[in-house]
Amino acid sequence: MSELYSKHAIKYDDVIQSNIYNAMYDFPTMKKLIGDIKGKDIIDLGCGSGVYAHYFVEQQAGQLTCIDYSVDMIQLVKAKLGDRVNAYTQNVAEGLPKVMTQSADLVVSALMIHYLKDLDALCAEIHRVLKQGGAFIFSTHHPFADLECSISGNYFEREFIQEMWDTVGEPVEVAFYRRSLTEITNALTNNGFVISALNEGEVRLEAKSICEKTYQYLMTHPNFLFIRAMKV
Ligand SMILES: C[S@@+](CC[C@H](N)C(=O)[O-])C[C@H]1O[C@@H](n2cnc3c(N)ncnc32)[C@H](O)[C@@H]1O
Repeated sequence: MSELYSKHAIKYDDVIQSNIYNAMYDFPTMKKLIGDIKGKDIIDLGCGSGVYAHYFVEQQAGQLTCIDYSVDMIQLVKAKLGDRVNAYTQNVAEGLPKVMTQSADLVVSALMIHYLKDLDALCAEIHRVLKQGGAFIFSTHHPFADLECSISGNYFEREFIQEMWDTVGEPVEVAFYRRSLTEITNALTNNGFVISALNEGEVRLEAKSICEKTYQYLMTHPNFLFIRAMKV
C-alpha cells in the first residue's frame, strides 16, 4: 500500500477536501451519479478518510459500511463519524467476507479500483453483496489518460505503473494498474451488471481561480472515468 494512504493519511484527508482533482472534479461528479441516498444501505469501498461517508451521513443514508485497506484511514473515519458507520480494514482484493449477500442498495468506490489487479473478482463480489436493483457507482483513472504512462505502449495490455505523486506537497510513490476501457466494462457485464451511466466528469468552474492550467487541462482532456452499473 502506498504511504500516501498510510503515513500521509491526515495530510491526504486535509488536501482532498479542497483540491481540484478530488473536491472539484471527482466528488461533484460522483454525487450526481449517486443521486438520492436517503435511507439507502451503502458500502463505501476504499473509503479513505471518510469524505464520502461524511456526505452519506449528512444525507441520511441507511446502514453505512466503510472499508479500506489502510488502518490510518479507518482510524480517521472512526474519529470523524464514530458509531454512525461500521468502519473496518479489509484488503478488498481478498473479497468482502464480512458483508452479507444482497445486503446493500449501493456500493460506492471513489478512485480505488485501479489499485486492484483482478477487477473481475471484485465485480463478482460486489454483485453478490448488492440487493436486486442495487447499483455499483465508481470513479477511476480514465484509460485514455493512463495510456500516457504506459511502458509497453499497448493500450489493451494491463500494466502495473509506479509513479511519484505530489498530492500532499511532497513526492510519494504510488503504484496502480492501467487497463483498457474494454477490461473495465467486461468485468462489469461478465458479472451481471448493466451499465446505466458512464461519463468523464466535469471540473467545477471554481477550479479556474486555483490553477488555470489544471482547469484548462481538465476542460479539454479525459482524466477520470465515472460509471454507474446496475444489478438488474
Ligand atoms: C485515492 S484514495 C480514495 C479515498 C476515498 N474513496 C475518497 O475518494 O476520498 C484510495 C483509497 O483506496 C484504498 N485502497 C487501496 N487499495 C485497497 C485495497 N486493496 N483494499 C481496500 N482499500 C484499498 C487506499 O487505502 C485509499 O484510502
